Amino acid sequence: MAPASQSRGDAESLGKAKAYVKSYGCQMNVYDATRMADLLAARGYAEAADEDEADLVVLNTCHIREKATDKVYSELGRLAKLKSERGAEGRDYKIIVAGCVAQAEGEEVLRRQRAVDLVVGPQSYHRLADLLTRAEAGERLAETDFAVADKFAALRRMAAEGKRVRDVTAFVTAQEGCDKFCSFCVVPYTRGAEVSRRPSEIIEEAEALAAAGVRELTIIGQNVNAYSGTDQHGAPWSLPRLLARLGRIEGVTRLRYTTSHPVDMTQELIDAHAELPFLAPFVHLPVQSGSNRILKAMNRRHDASFYLDIVARLRAARPDIALSSDFIVGFPGETDADFEATLELIRAVGFASTFSFKYSPRPGTPGAEREDQIDESVKSERLAILQTLVEEQRQAFNAATVGRTVEVLFEKAGRHEGQIAGKSPYMQPVHAMGGAELIGKTLPVTIVAAGSNSLAGRIAGRAIPNDAREAAL
Ligand code: 5AD
Ligand code: SF4
Repeated sequence: MAPASQSRGDAESLGKAKAYVKSYGCQMNVYDATRMADLLAARGYAEAADEDEADLVVLNTCHIREKATDKVYSELGRLAKLKSERGAEGRDYKIIVAGCVAQAEGEEVLRRQRAVDLVVGPQSYHRLADLLTRAEAGERLAETDFAVADKFAALRRMAAEGKRVRDVTAFVTAQEGCDKFCSFCVVPYTRGAEVSRRPSEIIEEAEALAAAGVRELTIIGQNVNAYSGTDQHGAPWSLPRLLARLGRIEGVTRLRYTTSHPVDMTQELIDAHAELPFLAPFVHLPVQSGSNRILKAMNRRHDASFYLDIVARLRAARPDIALSSDFIVGFPGETDADFEATLELIRAVGFASTFSFKYSPRPGTPGAEREDQIDESVKSERLAILQTLVEEQRQAFNAATVGRTVEVLFEKAGRHEGQIAGKSPYMQPVHAMGGAELIGKTLPVTIVAAGSNSLAGRIAGRAIPNDAREAAL
């Protein structure tokens, strides 16, 4: 059946089965997806460009909002069709569901979609190879055990073996899970309790990445600023201590961390922004709402002035720091006045970027039980108002970068010939004229223009072969 053209390919991938890992949701999922791709590669799978080309597909799912789960099931419907087409050709097609929907739904996924071969939760995917062997033998299984220590040990082994590096930026997990139990959120149920990795494991992984060419590390965790590691001498390590150590690794030019909770924003971490030159002046600090009443109902454990005080202290430590945040509109009981308080907080802070969502009741969370749910139409209206305001702030922030010279880490070729693209310290995409040899380098770039989604710059001290402004926008 296979046309001749399909048998072409590089010698290495010739004849190899191919796997495709498709990921939704947070940075933690991106990290897990990369690890699963590494595990599959170690098992002999070449990387497929998409699910059509693949013989095995992993959907690494997100459970945080309702639509995300619906999307998974409709995606699975599509993959099931693909699988039966393959079946008709006598070919195998494996479907694996991983991530937080896998954790939350477990065997329900197997019941609801017959085409799924394997369901594996975020705390169990390090056993993917064994599970796959059983799936290949015809078993249909759902593995959702929590065994965090094992997972971290597996990650450490992979770091020691040298993982495959794809980019000049990479995530490193420092912490996983959440003990906060915000009343809207499923994460404490799907990812389990807060667990911090040993500092030596994180450093080892970071060193392996840096040696392989990674220049920017983002230290991730559901509550990364609650990081509380213990070294082999029993000494405690906080996130700022870890950052100070990671910044000393040869080759690492920039560090970021995400996601943080306001109550864990210690003065030590705030001071780190003044003291560590390699720490990006950018903090993602979700606040969710500006109303004290709603913050309380959300079980966020702080009020609006607590948040504003952190922002003031961050700005005192590092005057050019930029902030981003997450917002939820339409939490049960949210009045017009509560919503207005959120807008007020946004005006008071001025965010460089934001993520905002309509409240989505998640089964099993206290918010979902409440009877004062807000109408969808009100949620939509509020979301539109909020998004207009934060979009104005984002554009203003980008426009204010024009004329400044900022450090850009170049990550890849740009969209146009002769261009390279990277990120400013504030996560803004920047492109400039320059050769591929500059990828992986951090260079001062004078921003010459702001487009709607990216900035055009000129590498400081270099002549521009074209008009960067025109080429770039
Ligand atoms: N509904 C809407 N948004 C949610 N988030 C988490 N749970 C919900 C929910 N049930 C948002 C929060 C969080 C981000 C990752 O997703 O803003 O910070
Ligand atoms: Fe969810 Fe709150 Fe934990 Fe963040 S802090 S993961 S929003 S429960």
